[in-house]
Amino acid sequence: MNKKLSFLLFLVFGLVFFSCKNTANSTPSFDRSKILIGIAMPETVERWTKDGNAIKNAALELGYKVELVFADGTQADQNTKIQSLVTQGAKLLIVTNINAEITPVITEAKDKCIAVIAYDRLIQGTGDYEYYITFNNDKVGQMQGQAIIDALDLTSSKNIVLFAGNPDDKNAEFFFNGAMKILTPQITSGKLFPIDGIDLSAVGIDNWKPENASSRMDAIFKGIDPIDAILAPNDATARYIIENYFSSGTVPAITGQDADFDSAKYIKNGKQTMTVFKDSRSLAKNAVTFADQILEGKAINISGIILATGVLAEMGNTGVKTVKTYLMDPKVINKNNLQELIDADWFTPEQKAELE
Ligand code: BGC
Repeated sequence: MNKKLSFLLFLVFGLVFFSCKNTANSTPSFDRSKILIGIAMPETVERWTKDGNAIKNAALELGYKVELVFADGTQADQNTKIQSLVTQGAKLLIVTNINAEITPVITEAKDKCIAVIAYDRLIQGTGDYEYYITFNNDKVGQMQGQAIIDALDLTSSKNIVLFAGNPDDKNAEFFFNGAMKILTPQITSGKLFPIDGIDLSAVGIDNWKPENASSRMDAIFKGIDPIDAILAPNDATARYIIENYFSSGTVPAITGQDADFDSAKYIKNGKQTMTVFKDSRSLAKNAVTFADQILEGKAINISGIILATGVLAEMGNTGVKTVKTYLMDPKVINKNNLQELIDADWFTPEQKAELE
């Protein structure tokens, strides 16, 4: 490289670095009412509707301008919506993506000095963002695995069917591997017998849409008896299985996560064994505190949430670099402590009345 060119490159990079570094506090007085935060959720199921609105409300409370968009479950649609947030002048994006096809948009944001926080799901395949906030998803999986062991009488061997979430979503891997840490010893000792498949690639459900696994489900649930336990990665999957294959008779031990209202009802009446409560109101609030500190150019400091270090830091490995990962604690909910969800005001008054 000749000297002139290196100098030019130095100038260009220097300028980009300088302007990005100072986006937040370059304005003489930091005025939140002039700053737009863009929120992009992947789809409109209960989990993401709740999260999206919780983030929006937390950001509005701090005085920011907010634009919340929901994709239709496809990355192409989300990319278009994120691009529109960029065009509207968003200074920071809080994003739960669908898959790695989001990377060009993240790079575009970086080029425009827009900070990105990966929310709940790691954005893989890019090094063009810095922060990720989520729950300890390995723990979520372990809780699911443990709930199955607790529900079964393993003095005789039991049949289990394993499912996992979208293999393109790193969370699905964390949940599944976490659960398998608990289940594998019982499988190895012969106490648990997995029907059809124990690898994520074989048991994962594309796009988290249970109907995408319906032929595998048909083959198993319409043919094999008894099924004693089902590892279902989330509440939506658990309910799909319960409603389509176990609408009458005994339901096997079956896991979930997200504390969806309909699953809480199933837990109450004994159809679903457990769920994992990931209080997205706190996740949302912390993500917004985070956003606020980034925009103001302050050091990140959020009480009660840990920066993943050691093996846990691996959770932030995008395949290109390891982003700073902040983890919150999930909580198991089953029939014995369902009241905690009610007491936590997780549901609307009408929903609470139905559960009490
Ligand atoms: C989330 C789960 C959710 C799933 C499907 C995962 O990334 O962590 O809470 O059930 O996506 O939307």
